[in-house]
Order: sequence, then structure tokens, then C-alpha cells
Amino acid sequence: MARTLIWDEHYRMGIDQLDQEHQALFDHYNWLIESLENPDSNPAETIAITVAVLEEHASSHFEHEETLMIDSHYPHFIPHKIDHEAFMIELHQMKNRLIAGDDVLNDLCRFVKNWLTTHIVIRDMGIVSHLRGQSGSSS
Ligand SMILES: [Fe+2]
Ligand SMILES: [Fe+2]
Repeated sequence: MARTLIWDEHYRMGIDQLDQEHQALFDHYNWLIESLENPDSNPAETIAITVAVLEEHASSHFEHEETLMIDSHYPHFIPHKIDHEAFMIELHQMKNRLIAGDDVLNDLCRFVKNWLTTHIVIRDMGIVSHLRGQSGSSS
């Protein structure tokens, strides 16, 4: 399953809750890939529910991350939040197209995989660098 997302160390933020949430998002993505590869055993309703669950998990994860950014006075909070919002809008639109019967599961999976992996490594790790700088300067 070449398209499966495997969580590894280079996605680790070192913040347990956020790391666990990222791993759960990877799991949801992998369930979607499984649905894509086994269309006969996965009716459209099941796929739509899986996307809706992914949406809910992403939304609560983003809230947790945004709270951490606000609490730690993260200077790049706004572009990070905009990136989260853009993801939610795109995912929501794709889910609606899926429910309407459009064949977008492939595109949706590609979008989620690219966005998640890039966002974690670039944007989320920016928070980690900021927190490290803060703990270094406050002592
Ligand atoms: Fe983020
Ligand atoms: Fe994140």
C-alpha cells in the first residue's frame, strides 16, 4: 500500500497530545486509502462518514494547536491559522462533492496527504522551534 501514511520521528513535535492527534489524522487518512483501494466493500456512505470524522478530528486538533500558539504568543499564529482554515474549507467542499456523487476520493486523498505531511513538517514544527526558544530564553 504505497500511498499509506506512516507516522515516523520526523513528524514528532514532542508534545504528546498533538503528536497523538497527528497520528490519529494519519489513521483516518489510511482508512480512506483503504476505502479507495477496496471500493466494493466500502459504500459511498461509509466513505462520507470517514471524511466527516476526519473533519471533526482535524477541527479539534487545530483548536488545540491554536490555543497553544495563543498561550505561547507565537508570532506566526495568523498565517498558521489561515492554513488550518484553508484545509477545513477545501476538505469540506470535497466532502460535499463526494456526497453529491462526484468521483473525488482520489483527489481528496492526495490533498489530505500532501497537506498533512507538509503542514506538520513546516508549520507545526515552527511552533516547536518557538517553544524551544522560549524555554531557552526564560531560564
Ligand atoms: Fe497546524
Ligand atoms: Fe497539527
